Amino acid sequence: MTPRLENVHAFVRRLTTAAANAALYSLGHRQVSHLCNLAQVHLQRAQDEDGELALMLVDDQLIFDNLPLENNLSIEQMIQGLKRRGVGTLKLLAGIEVDEIRDLVAVLARGAQSSAEAVSSPHIRYGKIEIRYAEGASDRGDTTASQIFDQFPTLAEIQQDELSEFIDLYRATRRSQRLNVVGISDIVSSFVDAFSSNADPLLALAPLRGLDEYTYTHSTNVCILNLAQARLLGIEGQVLHEIGVAAMLHDVGKLFVPVEILQKPGQLDDQEWAIMQDHPRKGAEYLFGTPGVPRLAVVTAYEHHMRYDGSGYPKVTRPWLQHLVSQMTTISDFFDALRTHRSYRKSLTLDTVTGIMLEQAGTTLHPALTRNFLKAISQLDSLK
Ligand SMILES: [Fe+2]
Ligand SMILES: [Fe+2]
Repeated sequence: MTPRLENVHAFVRRLTTAAANAALYSLGHRQVSHLCNLAQVHLQRAQDEDGELALMLVDDQLIFDNLPLENNLSIEQMIQGLKRRGVGTLKLLAGIEVDEIRDLVAVLARGAQSSAEAVSSPHIRYGKIEIRYAEGASDRGDTTASQIFDQFPTLAEIQQDELSEFIDLYRATRRSQRLNVVGISDIVSSFVDAFSSNADPLLALAPLRGLDEYTYTHSTNVCILNLAQARLLGIEGQVLHEIGVAAMLHDVGKLFVPVEILQKPGQLDDQEWAIMQDHPRKGAEYLFGTPGVPRLAVVTAYEHHMRYDGSGYPKVTRPWLQHLVSQMTTISDFFDALRTHRSYRKSLTLDTVTGIMLEQAGTTLHPALTRNFLKAISQLDSLK
């Protein structure tokens, strides 16, 4: 990767992390300011001789310098953030002020900041153009480029031949791509890297994926929380990676639960609950039959709703020794479920959740692992 490209990635990473922070706390939070400053530094290094940096969305890929940026979590978040606002092109010009970067963060942030509008400023130009590659039309060379809004000056700057160049490149990339989705293993590696580079991985909020955003976000949260626990226990390398992969996949069985049940706002009835409770078994079965999945992931998927005191599910013949990684996952799972806002319940404060967990330590939760967990999360900046 060229230094310039590295700076583009670093810029996007700081920006999306700042947006995640802004959504969690506020735009005025000191961590947001800190990240905006860092973003500005990387942006300056990434701008070309003319002091410009242009990004463009082409059919769910972020294009920089005529090539799609390699997909990772922050690129994915950037794409989702731009798409939410209908922004298709983004030009960042020389002399950009940190306040303008903060405005861009507000545009990318979800939640409280979501009323911020994508309005061009002296050094930021938004273009609302969406380029879609028409599926199955490649032989005829058909593409559709729909200009959704035309009130932005940058639209005029995008010439038609420039567009077709992007689309051609995109087609070429797409042909050679084996997978369009970021591999689980890559996601875990990016979290592990974030830990080692002192970035705060909990802020890397997961992008929307497939049918149930909660399940995906939850899985990445559990992954980060498991990695934090494992690292504090001194676990490194391949085992650490496998623990992360197992956490990412722990709820994969929910793919087999009907969406109406998964997303039901109220209480589940007995029959629905029975289907829901079958997700550990379904998940383990699925992973068992999937090549390349570590055995640990199969075990964790099966055991993550079992409890230290023998309660929980699936019901198994006792005595049963629940794997320590499953118990770590139970703890992360428990924490994330209480911390997350659901349609039927508000999220609880960190103090409240900590109190509940300490109460449960030794009964439903493994006592030493719970203490280790609380120590691990106290070291995660985003939770302070
Ligand atoms: Fe689960
Ligand atoms: Fe879970």
